[in-house]
This record gives sequence, C-alpha cells and structure tokens, in this order.
Amino acid sequence: MQPILACALRQETLSKTDIVSLLSIPEPAPLFDAADQVRRNFVGDEVYLRALIEFSNYCKNDCLYCGIRRSNAAAQRYRLTPEKIIQTAQKAVGLGYKTVVLQSGEDVWFDADKLCHIIREIKKLGAAVTLSIGEKTREEYAAYRQAGADRYLLRIETTDKALYEKLDPAMSWDNRMRCLYDLKELGYEVGSGSLVGLPGQTLESLADDLIFFKNLPVDMAGIGPFIPHPQTPLSGKNTQGHFELSLKMMAVMRLLLPDINIPATTAMETLHPRGRLLALACGANVVMPNATEGSARIKYELYPGKICTGEAPEQCRACIQRKIESIGRTVNFSYGFHGDYLKGK
Ligand code: SAM
Ligand code: FES
Repeated sequence: MQPILACALRQETLSKTDIVSLLSIPEPAPLFDAADQVRRNFVGDEVYLRALIEFSNYCKNDCLYCGIRRSNAAAQRYRLTPEKIIQTAQKAVGLGYKTVVLQSGEDVWFDADKLCHIIREIKKLGAAVTLSIGEKTREEYAAYRQAGADRYLLRIETTDKALYEKLDPAMSWDNRMRCLYDLKELGYEVGSGSLVGLPGQTLESLADDLIFFKNLPVDMAGIGPFIPHPQTPLSGKNTQGHFELSLKMMAVMRLLLPDINIPATTAMETLHPRGRLLALACGANVVMPNATEGSARIKYELYPGKICTGEAPEQCRACIQRKIESIGRTVNFSYGFHGDYLKGK
C-alpha cells in the first residue's frame, strides 16, 4: 500500500486498480494521514463555511433512495417564498457567511424568473451563490449564471449508468452528465459527488466516480454515505461500512485533486457523532451548516436522523466554529473559491 500512497503524494497518476486498492485498505490510517497532509499543503488549515438554505422539499423526481421523492406521501411538503429565502440569506450573511447554498428538490414552481430574482437579491448582499436544485436546461443554467450564480452542486450519485437509472427511475444518466458539462462550459464552479453504499454499487464503480471527478475536473466533490429512509423503497437496507468508505472516498479524492473544495458532509454526522470532524481530518476543508429556519429543517428529510433539526441557524453557526477550533483548525471568512489558497501563497 505504501508505494501507492508515495506515488499519490508525488502527485503521480493513480490507476483504477490503485484506487480500488486504496478504497479496500483494511487499516486506512496511512491513507487518511496522506490526505490530511495534502489538504494542508494545497488548501491550508482553514475551514470554509457555506450557509445551506433548504428552500423547498417539493420534487418531481422519484429517486428510490430519497426521503423527499415524489411518491413519499408521508413527506410534509413546504416551499419558502422568495422573500423568505432572501431574508434567510440576509440573516446568514449577518452571521458571517460568505456563501449561500440554495438547495431544493426539483420544484417546478421556482421557474427561471423567480430563481434569477432570488439570486440577484442575494448577490446584492455580497455573498457568493451556490445552487443545488437539480437538472435544468442549458438555457436555465445560463440565466442563473447571468443573474450572478457562482457555483452549482449536482452529484452524479454514481457513474454506473445502469445503477443510476435503476435508482432514479425516469431520469437519464446522459442528461445528468449533460448538465455537468453545460455547467462547466458556462463558467460555474462545479461540484459533483457520490452517494456511497448504494445497493449494487461496487468499489470499481466508486473508483470510476473518482476518475470522472478528476477528468471533468470538478471544483468541489461532496461525498456522502447513503442512509436508507424508512418511507422509500430502499428502507431497511443497512449502513454498515458506509461511513468508513465515505472517509476513504474523500481521502482518495483529496489525493487525486489536491486543491479542490471537499465538504465534510452533514450525513456523516448522522452516522457518527464526530462525523464532520473526522471528515475534516481525512481531506475535507468545507462545512455547510444549516441556515434554514423553523420546521423546514425537519421537513427537508432526505434520510432519517438528520442532525441539528431543532437548532436555530445562529446555534449551528456558533457550534460548528467551536467544533472546528476544537481540532486546531480555524474558520476562514472569505469566499473560498477553488484555488484561492495557492494563489494567496
Ligand atoms: N434536487 C437536487 C439534486 O438532485 O441535485 C438537490 C437536492 S438532492 C436531495 C441532494 C442530495 O441528497 C442528492 O444529490 C443525494 O446524493 C442526497 N441524498 C438523497 N437521499 C439520500 C439518502 N437517503 N442518504 C444520503 N443522501 C441522500
Ligand atoms: Fe428529488 Fe431526491 S427525489 S431530490
């Protein structure tokens, strides 16, 4: 194993076989240490915060793994008004956030005009805007970009096309790929990522995911464990091994793309009480605390056991800073675009 890590530390290309070996390593501490070292050298010790606003849980899609899928009649649906979204963003900026992430199901009520208005208003606050609202036409992506959107998060979920189309019925993997290439061409900072532990997913396909992220290349990669939701067709699947495998995915991602932004995803903390801090020690350098207010926090239930549903945005903001400082890291209060750290050196 050590020779593969030594190659990775020298920034030499890793083959798919090398990546599968790293993902199957039984004692991952040396892998995690290597990723931590690369993270320190390429993006520094500071952690970037992004305020997550979950503005609607309506969704036209029916992904088998997702708690807000169209067919989940038990989901309590909500949709924040544009005014409320802008107000929530204002509050987040007041709490020191420099980036607002707008996330929702694929809710057709929010047409391009409404979204562009929201983006423009949030940009006036001086914040960077990240969108995570699913698959749209190239024209819509161009309109959001024109309105000022800076980044877009769209996980491929899995690069295994057959698996994707089985788990996301009526969705097309080719279209999801088209979206990612359109976003890249339109000049967004593009984030993609994988759901780790999907039934039928293999280490080989996870290695393919990482190679895809490297080749695109992504500016951000959000790797999260799959956590079965009881009101979905995948209810009852276990989460055995998903946490550690997600850490390994983050670590190898850091070795492959040393200077990108990698969030310590919220779902990690559902599976382990120190989940985000452990992710920060395995290559991650970003945290996305929840800035949504009130009952929407619990209603945006992609998976069970979501953390911080009873907290207010200001509590999450203070709590995450304390946690970050408890591991000897500090919060960075700038926009944290891809490559900023190395440019500033
Ligand atoms: N609709 C947008 C999209 O498709 O990109 C954004 C919202 S979607 C709910 C955000 C992410 O939640 C998905 O990319 C997926 O990886 C994750 N997710 C959905 N169900 C999950 C589950 N059961 N466990 C963990 N993550 C899940
Ligand atoms: Fe729509 Fe998951 S099924 S966001």
